[in-house]
Amino acid sequence: MPMLTDAIVAGLRADTPGCGGPQVHFNHAGASLSSRQTLAAITQHLELEARVGPMEAAVMAADGVARARAAAATLLNADSEEIAFATGGSAAWGTAIASLPPLRPGDRVLVGRQEWGGNLTTLRDKAARAGAVVELIPSLDDGRVDADALANQIDDRVRLISLTWGAANGGLVNDAAAVGRVARAAGVPYVIDAAQVVGQIPADVRALGCDMLKAPGRKHLRGPRGTALLYVRRDFLDKVAPAWLDVQSSPWPSDLGADHGPATIRDDARRLESAEASVALLLGLGSALDLALTLGVDNIRTRIHHLAQGLRQRLAALPGVTVRDIGDPETRSGLVSFTVDGLAGSAVRARLMEHGLTLGANGVPYTPLDMTARGLTEIARASVSYLTTEAELDRLANAVATLNR
Ligand SMILES: Cc1ncc(COP(=O)(O)O)c(C=O)c1O
Repeated sequence: MPMLTDAIVAGLRADTPGCGGPQVHFNHAGASLSSRQTLAAITQHLELEARVGPMEAAVMAADGVARARAAAATLLNADSEEIAFATGGSAAWGTAIASLPPLRPGDRVLVGRQEWGGNLTTLRDKAARAGAVVELIPSLDDGRVDADALANQIDDRVRLISLTWGAANGGLVNDAAAVGRVARAAGVPYVIDAAQVVGQIPADVRALGCDMLKAPGRKHLRGPRGTALLYVRRDFLDKVAPAWLDVQSSPWPSDLGADHGPATIRDDARRLESAEASVALLLGLGSALDLALTLGVDNIRTRIHHLAQGLRQRLAALPGVTVRDIGDPETRSGLVSFTVDGLAGSAVRARLMEHGLTLGANGVPYTPLDMTARGLTEIARASVSYLTTEAELDRLANAVATLNR
């Protein structure tokens, strides 16, 4: 696997319509920039659909979708049978959670401090209706989830451990494998939200010890919006009862009448997948997955880590600017969070937009527990990709330097 040299990156940028124009993208954590090849995979299939009919085109593209599933499995060190596609991160996560056995009064659900707001709302609602509780796993001093403290929380009322692996509001990356060891030893279902990890940091579901894991296509994988991956561990499949069924998840049995009792559900992860999907987008996702595999996520990780650390150093050197990233500096992701004295994160974002720089601003709702624990109301978030260059980091730092003058 080649290292991502400047020459290779220049070629990848040339193949990316969003690179090299007047605007510089620092919002890869929101949604990244797709390659020309990914765009072509989508548009060519849409054209085929228009020419021969979408159902007919889907038959012609079945091998391509199967290859996309195999690529997703390779990326996660899973089997194809363990991969379902979904239309978005929350849809994948919600489908997974809705398929678990209902909570009962007194049940406990354990979450990390970086839990995504939407996940937390879903869990709290589910718990409130059942008379169960959602509890916080204690954190280490650096903000990451404390796996030893988690081990001490376990009792026979714990029904689920839910972990957002990489924070949405900064570079913190939890030790998801350490959490997995506790979950496995206790036999508690373990679900990972890997939205901010997959595609930028190697993710091996066997090493993580998780039962389910999801990630969207549009972020660090550079796939299209409207796509996501959901991994379900093979031996966990029989614990997963889809909230609804269709002709794919449970084909009508030919030998039985209408009163045949509980449905027979397919025995792979596609029991959680909708039969109706955008084939064009799945082919685009397949192209993005192929690119990630060709480049090697280890190589991607090395380059992103170097760039993000460089950006943190540049920003930390500026008066009135505070880098807000916590967690272990060695394992941080490409999300760089910062505040500028006297300016809200959204104002920072708006002002940088005037400089042709696109970045994110996160308030409390995306990561309520962590923002509240740290007394933060809003941060600016610049997220890098392996496509980012040192010159772009300089441009961002120079623009930030002008903000509070
Ligand atoms: C950690 C995390 N979880 C969940 C989501 C929501 O995913 P989606 O917008 O694909 O539903 C995001 C989106 O940014 C995220 O960062």
